[in-house]
Amino acid sequence: MQFHMPSRLYFGSGEIKNLKSIIKDYLKAKNPVLVTDAGIVRSGLLEKLIPQVPGITVFDRIEANPKSDTINEIAEEMRVLAPDLIIGLGGGSPLDAGKALALLCTNKGNIEAYEGREKYGQDPLPFLAIPTTCGTGSEVTWVSVITDVNRKFKMSIKGPKMYPAVSIVDPDLIQTLPPSIIASTGLDALTHAVEAYLSKPATLITDNHAIKAVELILGSLEGAYTDIKNNQKDRENLMFGSTIAGFAFGNSDVTAVHCISESIGALYDIPHGIANSVFLPHVLTYNLPDCYHKMATLARLSGITDPHDMTASQSFIQMIRDLSKRLHIPQFKDLNIGKDQFEKIADMSFMNNSNPSNPRVLQKKDYLWMLENALN
Ligand SMILES: [Fe+2]
Repeated sequence: MQFHMPSRLYFGSGEIKNLKSIIKDYLKAKNPVLVTDAGIVRSGLLEKLIPQVPGITVFDRIEANPKSDTINEIAEEMRVLAPDLIIGLGGGSPLDAGKALALLCTNKGNIEAYEGREKYGQDPLPFLAIPTTCGTGSEVTWVSVITDVNRKFKMSIKGPKMYPAVSIVDPDLIQTLPPSIIASTGLDALTHAVEAYLSKPATLITDNHAIKAVELILGSLEGAYTDIKNNQKDRENLMFGSTIAGFAFGNSDVTAVHCISESIGALYDIPHGIANSVFLPHVLTYNLPDCYHKMATLARLSGITDPHDMTASQSFIQMIRDLSKRLHIPQFKDLNIGKDQFEKIADMSFMNNSNPSNPRVLQKKDYLWMLENALN
């Protein structure tokens, strides 16, 4: 059994105040650059941090489901600056982009050349992750997911040197998140925890993190969704749940939910959390025969008292459907995905690296079954 978590994690409300000293005294960086997106700039969050890093060069054009072309363009500009630290500020997209750029600052060529595990020749630059949503987990994992625009495929670029050197997880940073983003990123975090727990590579260590994450996320998500500003405890529990769900799936794996959502995200640019939320109940239903004993543990954690594992697990799946409805997550039919694309989505999902980690064997036809099921 192995467990990796080499990042130094600063967790707690107000931790962001230590940004300057973390950069100077701990990371000893003299020339950091910052990667973020336009939404973070508009929210005013970047402006609040700038006094701690005066004069820093900011790259703020990371899009949702970050694209290889964008990463390659920014890398060329960034290499000229010769930075010694990359700071990623935002949701999963700026954090994954930051990891990819840290790699390209020390390695030649384009990001497409580094798809897979440990394809880099030189260690990437140190990376400092500052998440501003409650779902990515990227702040504690070794993977960067970038969409290859030519293949319309989400590549995983990963390796033990790609963990952030430092992560600052400050629940105060999500105080102004709109409810729709809390819902989708919170359900992404829940999906990470549930998939990590049910996936084939799960271990005793990842199980413990996953179970605690499910408990924390289910206990805080609706409170945060209703009033994030005034629910400090829910903010903290949601961010903590999201982070330890990252410990769990980063050391076990995700399963078929992410296989489908990454395929859809690459083809349609649909927000990752929404795609996960839509497919979580369908994948769990498919997986029931092979993991209902384990799923029943999650059911009981969420207050379901049914003593029979199969029916308790079915109630757990229904509970997730009901939660998604209360959080106003769109339905599959609202995503405007053409039926003529189902074959392609099923193919891509089957090819996804995480497909073999699903607790029940999945063929292309099984993905087609889930897509049809979601549509109906
Ligand atoms: Fe995810």
